[in-house]
Amino acid sequence: MLLLGLVISGSLYTVFSPAQADSQPSETEQVAKGKELFLASCSFCHGQNGEGVPTVRDGYQLGPSLVGVGAAAVDFQVGTGRMPMAQPGQQVQRKPPVFNDEEVAALAAYVASLGPGPAIPNESDYSIDDLSEEERQEAISRGGQIFLTNCTACHNFNGAGGAMPRGGYAPSLHGVEPKYIFEAMLTGPQQMPNFSNGNLSPDEKRDVIAYLGSLEETPEYAGFTLGGLGPVSEGLFAWVVGIGGLVGAAVWIASHTTRSKKSKVNA
Ligand code: HEC
Ligand code: HEC
Repeated sequence: MLLLGLVISGSLYTVFSPAQADSQPSETEQVAKGKELFLASCSFCHGQNGEGVPTVRDGYQLGPSLVGVGAAAVDFQVGTGRMPMAQPGQQVQRKPPVFNDEEVAALAAYVASLGPGPAIPNESDYSIDDLSEEERQEAISRGGQIFLTNCTACHNFNGAGGAMPRGGYAPSLHGVEPKYIFEAMLTGPQQMPNFSNGNLSPDEKRDVIAYLGSLEETPEYAGFTLGGLGPVSEGLFAWVVGIGGLVGAAVWIASHTTRSKKSKVNA
């Protein structure tokens, strides 16, 4: 009986376990797959073991070390299509991603295995869907404050982006997925400072995400946005065009009233 039991459980195990292994790749398999992809697409710039390539070619570093940048940095860079970079240049552009979700996860697992770094955030960290309407309004107003003090200097007060020193630019934040907003803060790509969870807690990051989402819902009341350049330039525009126009109209009215015509006739 015992032997029979062992045989049955053993054969059942062999029947079911490979199926499980297929649907859920183990971590070591994922890292191995990530390493393979890495050697093919990333090692030219980031080195065979992600140690970076220090040589500077035509004034640009080929690729920095990825030891300790964490899975979040890979998910952001590869998920937004920035990496693999086509060629070293001034600023890497956002473009349609080259890898699918599974491959991005494998690359992230491999880079995470090189050294401890920030992990990919959970949906509960960045999603605002489970907030009540009241909580969401509160998050938006807190997020607006955080955005104003930490982000407007580069991304403009309405998130439209702007120019940076040395020919760089801070991109527009409109339409960026919540996960990538969270990861951008967490990992600080390029000239952007890094807002670790110690600086800006996950809740504060979610508030910023709520605020950026609310900007997209806000209708532009005026006919022209004037590029959202801010109160000074928009105010100047209002002065020059608005008040200038009023002065022009006043002059026109003054010279076309019946009284001024009469006085011309009399003269
Ligand atoms: C042509 C060279 C090149 C290739 C190919 C390339 N990278 Fe990069 N990578 C760079 C440079 C240069 C930077 C630094 C500029 C920046 O931060 O955007 C960078 C930055 C990164 C960062 C951000 C590091 C940080 O400190 O946050 C990650 C993550 C990354 N690369 C991952 C990858 C992965 C994964 C691949 C392959 C799919 C890849 N890269 C392919 C040149 C390259
Ligand atoms: C010193 C300037 C600077 C500050 C401050 C800054 N950023 Fe950035 N940000 C940048 C630059 C430059 C990039 C582009 C990086 C790249 O292309 O790799 C960027 C990229 C991003 C992206 C990625 C957008 C995309 O197209 O995928 C997000 C999201 C973002 N920033 C959010 C924020 C938030 C939120 C804050 C405030 C908590 C902030 N940034 C503060 C300069 C800045």
